[in-house]
Amino acid sequence: MAVLVTGGTGYIGSHTVVELLNEGKDVIIVDNLSNSKEMVLLRIAEITKGEIAEDRLSFYEADILDYESLEKIFSENSIDSVIHFAGLKAVGESVAKPVEYYMNNITGTLVLLEVMKEFNVKKIVFSSSATVYGLHNVSPLTEELPLSTTNPYGSTKMMIEQILQDVYVSDNEWSIALLRYFNPIGAHKSGRIGEDPTGTPNNLMPYITQVAVGKREMLNVFGADYNTEDGTGVRDYIHVVDLAKGHLKALQYIDNKNIIEAINLGTGNGISVLGMISNFEKATGIKIQYQLVERRPGDIATCFADATKALKLLDWKAKYNIEDMCRDSWNWQQNNPDGYQ
Ligand code: NAD
Ligand code: WQD
Repeated sequence: MAVLVTGGTGYIGSHTVVELLNEGKDVIIVDNLSNSKEMVLLRIAEITKGEIAEDRLSFYEADILDYESLEKIFSENSIDSVIHFAGLKAVGESVAKPVEYYMNNITGTLVLLEVMKEFNVKKIVFSSSATVYGLHNVSPLTEELPLSTTNPYGSTKMMIEQILQDVYVSDNEWSIALLRYFNPIGAHKSGRIGEDPTGTPNNLMPYITQVAVGKREMLNVFGADYNTEDGTGVRDYIHVVDLAKGHLKALQYIDNKNIIEAINLGTGNGISVLGMISNFEKATGIKIQYQLVERRPGDIATCFADATKALKLLDWKAKYNIEDMCRDSWNWQQNNPDGYQ
């Protein structure tokens, strides 16, 4: 029996596929390569070489909105469960292109659920986000808090969570994990897979590593007047390999159960932007030029997880510290200055 990984050539997906293969699972990836490169597959094979026979991983270049392609994948393989990463994820772009975001993320998920139902596959782990906690909840954020969003991207995550709740109510043979990620950074220790943003990075860590490698002159620190220890925004950064392992634990948890659970995947620790800069400098020995600028619209002061539910239900907690995250992000960037190009 295989695990179908939608969006499996993407940043978090590729790291999760490596962990699944290392655990002895058969894996099928479906990805339309809209935000990833086929080369990722070679890198995954390289990392797992020696341990894994080639026929344990297959790849379909297809869009999850394409019903017939998904039917073909389900009919050609013996699929037991799905980890659903495929989606568009840029907050700013979602404000400019809401229809594209709703179409891709919501319709894509609906088509996937239809085909899963047709093939009687009822186990799914979904990539949600801490963005569903909105602007007003106070950290540490627990899973029971009221949800709200401020942009179309976040709304797609909240709506898909609702859709999955409704699916479960309609047929409680389903088993569903809604994983709310905090801020994933870092890369596989080999430096062969990592985050490869298109154009100017929106997120803090890829921006820092591009300054470090000389691709950008200096980091803009968005806001130094927040009510935090040093005035800059505080977030819960989590190593992508810890996150990937959380998916394996979630798959295990939903196996042989009929449940739906929303679970935070974060470390439970908050780090400020200035704190991140100094951790990066310490871990790598490279000085990061920065300037303090205006707040970025839509940002909040502080966002970190209450991570106790993941420990209790999944027996999972993050193992990598901030130094590991900085070192591995830098190792990836240094070895691949232009990403997968
Ligand atoms: P990513 O863009 O690297 O990976 C997503 C993958 O999905 C890409 O390879 C893309 O080509 C593919 N894809 C998109 N639409 C598709 C479609 N219609 N059909 C087939 N493939 C499609 O993003 P990521 O950072 O790995 O994020 C994975 C998931 O986790 C996303 O759903 C994202 O919203 C969610 N998430 C990410 C973060 C983050 O900060 N990276 C935080 C919280 C949640
Ligand atoms: C972190 C901190 C910025 C860039 C976003 C999405 C969220 C989730 C993760 C998917 C903030 C500051 C950043 C820069 C800076 N994605 N910053 N200069 O905003 O917490 O979350 O990614 O679900 O939905 O909104 O992450 O990395 O963009 O910012 O000062 O050039 O770094 O203001 O305080 P964020 P981020």
